Amino acid sequence: MRRNLTPGKVGIDFLDGFIHGAINDALAKDGIDTSGLYQFYAVRVQKRLGGLSEYEEHIARYAIERCAGRRVVEIGTGLGELPIVLALNGMTTAGVEYDGNRQRAAMALHERIASCFPEILERYEFIRGSFPETLSGSAWTGADVTLLFTNVGAGWDADRTGRAIDFFTNVGEIILDLRLFGVVREDAADREELFARIAARARTAELLPDLSPGCYFARFTF
Ligand SMILES: C[S@@+](CC[C@H](N)C(=O)[O-])C[C@H]1O[C@@H](n2cnc3c(N)ncnc32)[C@H](O)[C@@H]1O
Repeated sequence: MRRNLTPGKVGIDFLDGFIHGAINDALAKDGIDTSGLYQFYAVRVQKRLGGLSEYEEHIARYAIERCAGRRVVEIGTGLGELPIVLALNGMTTAGVEYDGNRQRAAMALHERIASCFPEILERYEFIRGSFPETLSGSAWTGADVTLLFTNVGAGWDADRTGRAIDFFTNVGEIILDLRLFGVVREDAADREELFARIAARARTAELLPDLSPGCYFARFTF
């Protein structure tokens, strides 16, 4: 049976298969690296995992329920699969990506999904650029914006991490995985330090231990 996150909208299982098919075709056409999929996405086809990871489904459910009426931007969106799922469930979304090959793959997925669901063109914007600089002065700031960070343990240096945290006061809400924000933090003490650092500037701060197993999500409001 096809499961829906929102009654009457495009089902999550349908999108899982749709995105899996897009990844499969891109891999066959261009190979792992030129396609911009790299091992991170290629494994989803090689191991038949589907187009969406479990934490993406969990965070999609959370965002649909808890971020209704807000504009949601995923930073380090990869192919943009999470903002696509949210947009096809009625939300207004964007995804930011800085890797050139990934950008091409994300734009190809955007085009492919828009050919089936043209309504996504009004709901989802793919943004080529680096966070935080690319969002400065953009329309994607304000109290109604939520920034989502799922898996961006990309080896940011201290300067980028500092500028990213400084940027948070430009939006109303941040949801991030403390383990994978900028660098990978395997030690609990390092995750606690990041939480305290952001909480010191935030209006509210809470851990979301039940959002997705094996993840360390936290929510902050500004
Ligand atoms: C590991 S992938 C995860 C993709 C997707 N969020 C997921 O969890 O399936 C992380 C992506 O974030 C991008 N990225 C990392 N830091 C970024 C930044 N500061 N601005 C834009 N993109 C960034 C990388 O290029 C990469 O495509």
